[in-house]
Amino acid sequence: MNSTQLSAQDSRSRSTVIPCFLRGFFENPLQVASFVPSSGYLQRKLSSLACLQTARSVVELGPGTGETTRALLKAIPAEAQLLGVEVVSGFVKHLREFADPRLTVVEDSALHLKQILSQQNMPAPEVIVSGVPFSVMTPTEGRQLIQTIHEVLAPGGAFVTYQFRNNVCELASDCFGAPQSRAFVLWNLPPLDVYLWEKTAETKEQKKIPASPLKV
Ligand SMILES: C[S@@+](CC[C@H](N)C(=O)[O-])C[C@H]1O[C@@H](n2cnc3c(N)ncnc32)[C@H](O)[C@@H]1O
Repeated sequence: MNSTQLSAQDSRSRSTVIPCFLRGFFENPLQVASFVPSSGYLQRKLSSLACLQTARSVVELGPGTGETTRALLKAIPAEAQLLGVEVVSGFVKHLREFADPRLTVVEDSALHLKQILSQQNMPAPEVIVSGVPFSVMTPTEGRQLIQTIHEVLAPGGAFVTYQFRNNVCELASDCFGAPQSRAFVLWNLPPLDVYLWEKTAETKEQKKIPASPLKV
C-alpha cells in the first residue's frame, strides 16, 4: 500500500474512530481505560521506534480502533506481519476494515497470546507493543501477561508498552528487570509513559535504567 492510499484510508476512518472508541469505552470502561484514542504524538513516537524498522514479526496487544496500529504499519517493513489481539468486538470489526495485507486481527484476550501465535502459525515476535492497561488487571493477570510476553518474544526482542500508571514496572521486574528506557508523553489524554524492555539473558540485577530517554 502506498502513502496516498494510506492517507486516503486515514481520512475515511477518522470520522468513524471517535464514535467507535467512545462506544467501546462506555461498554467496557475497565478494559479500554481511556475515552479517546492515543494522540498523534504517541503514534509518531511509536512509529519511530528503531526496533520496528527491521522487524518481520510484530504483535500489538490492545490495538483499540487502530490509531497505534496505523503507526506500527507505517514503521514496519513491507514484508513484515502484524498481529493485533483485541478483546472488544466493536474494535475488532473496525480493525478488520483496514486494507493492509500485513495485518491480522484476532478477537481474544492478550492472556491467550501463546495459543494465538501457534494458531496463526506466526514466528516468535521480535517486537510486542501493548496498550493493554496493566493498572486495571489483577496482579495475577498482570504477571501472567508479562510472563507470556517474555516467553513468546524472540531472543533480543523488544517489549514496548504505553501506560497511564507505572505498576507495569513492578509486574515486569521479575522477567525483564528494570525498563531499558522510558519516555514521558505529555501530549496525550491522559499523559502517559512509554516503556521499553529487551529480552536478554541478563539478570535483573545487571540491568539499569539508562540516563538517556527512550530512543525514538
Ligand atoms: C488504552 S486503550 C488503547 C487503544 C489503542 N491502542 C490506542 O492507543 O488508542 C487499551 C486497549 O486494550 C484493550 N484490552 C484491554 N484488555 C485487553 C486484553 N486482555 N486483551 C486484549 N486487549 C485488551 C482495550 O479493549 C483497548 O482497546
